[in-house]
Amino acid sequence: MNKKVAILGASGYTGAEIVRLVATHPDLEIAALSAERKAGMAMGDVFAQLGHLDLPDLVRISDVDFQQVDLAFLALPYGLSHELVPGLPDHVKVVDLSADFRFRDVADYARWYGREHKAPKIQPTVAYGLPEIYRSEIAAARITANTGCYVATSLLPLIPLVRAQVIDPHPIVIDAKSGVSGAGRALRESSLFCEVNEGFSAYGIAHHRHMGELDQELSLAAGAPVTPSFTPHLVPMSRGMMATIYVDGDADAVHETLAAFYSDAPFVTVLPLGKAPSTSHVKGSNRCHIGVVADRAKGRTIIVSVLDNLMKGASGQAVQIANIMLGLDETAGLKLAPIFP
Ligand SMILES: NC(=O)c1ccc[n+]([C@@H]2O[C@H](COP(=O)([O-])OP(=O)(O)OC[C@H]3O[C@@H](n4cnc5c(N)ncnc54)[C@H](OP(=O)(O)O)[C@@H]3O)[C@@H](O)[C@H]2O)c1
Repeated sequence: MNKKVAILGASGYTGAEIVRLVATHPDLEIAALSAERKAGMAMGDVFAQLGHLDLPDLVRISDVDFQQVDLAFLALPYGLSHELVPGLPDHVKVVDLSADFRFRDVADYARWYGREHKAPKIQPTVAYGLPEIYRSEIAAARITANTGCYVATSLLPLIPLVRAQVIDPHPIVIDAKSGVSGAGRALRESSLFCEVNEGFSAYGIAHHRHMGELDQELSLAAGAPVTPSFTPHLVPMSRGMMATIYVDGDADAVHETLAAFYSDAPFVTVLPLGKAPSTSHVKGSNRCHIGVVADRAKGRTIIVSVLDNLMKGASGQAVQIANIMLGLDETAGLKLAPIFP
């Protein structure tokens, strides 16, 4: 029998992407969709491209019958999930796309997000949602915190390398770029066409919130504090994310380690040594492509990692996690090839 899911925040970009994936998933069925300002509307009136699907209308979260739900995707702004999750029935599994449960220490959440954590007792039970690294923890968890999108792009290459001590974690420099959908669908001046089009800007320099997650996971992998340099940039494209990462380490060893680590991974491809990927190679898919190139200076290596921020950076990975948590085939509903051009 199909597992029933609720998608909270279905009128947002990541929520709608989960709807798109679940609509053709062989083992999942949509039981409820929620919105806030758009509650009461039909999904097809909010996203015309989904109008042909037979979907429930958008309701407020308080009107969702969680007794009918096996798993809830929480595609909500940060600050809501840690208030909502403690009140959910125990049988409901949760994949949270926000930052609310990503910090292993709630003091780090307060430090990076400027507000106190409301569910500190639940936090130790939460799995960190990077399936390629934490698959068994995710399989055993009731709640999983999907990674940040920049964080997934960066950690997929970096964690195996830091764990294997193939690179020196001091320094790691991450130069990252995102499409505009990374900021969500809610109206924001900084996301307007004239602010974004024909321009390319860095933001959050030396203080972007995803640094907290990067520090946490790289330090855990290294067994000692690691503080990478990280600068995100906004690129005038709808979706796509790239991290160009500069490390101290031999390119052959870096490539060999990553190729071996991901040899059986369904969604991660390590390109032949010397080749670099483009965001257009993974658009619309749950894939991450990683390129490794030897720098001119001996002993330095440049890694280029790309994914679709709405897919492997958010909703695709969330469905991958749900598959693992529900004991389904990890790739179910996610075998889509990338869209090109
Ligand atoms: N966009 C990405 O690439 C990306 C990647 C990774 C992680 N994330 C994370 O995923 C989460 C969702 O992001 P998004 O980009 O999908 O955001 P979004 O497009 O702004 O959508 C937010 C959703 O939450 C609902 N919502 C807003 N305020 C609410 C409230 N007070 N109570 C209940 N529902 C409320 C909205 O409903 P209305 O439309 O009715 O207001 C909408 O459905 C965020 O935490 C974000 O950081 C996003």
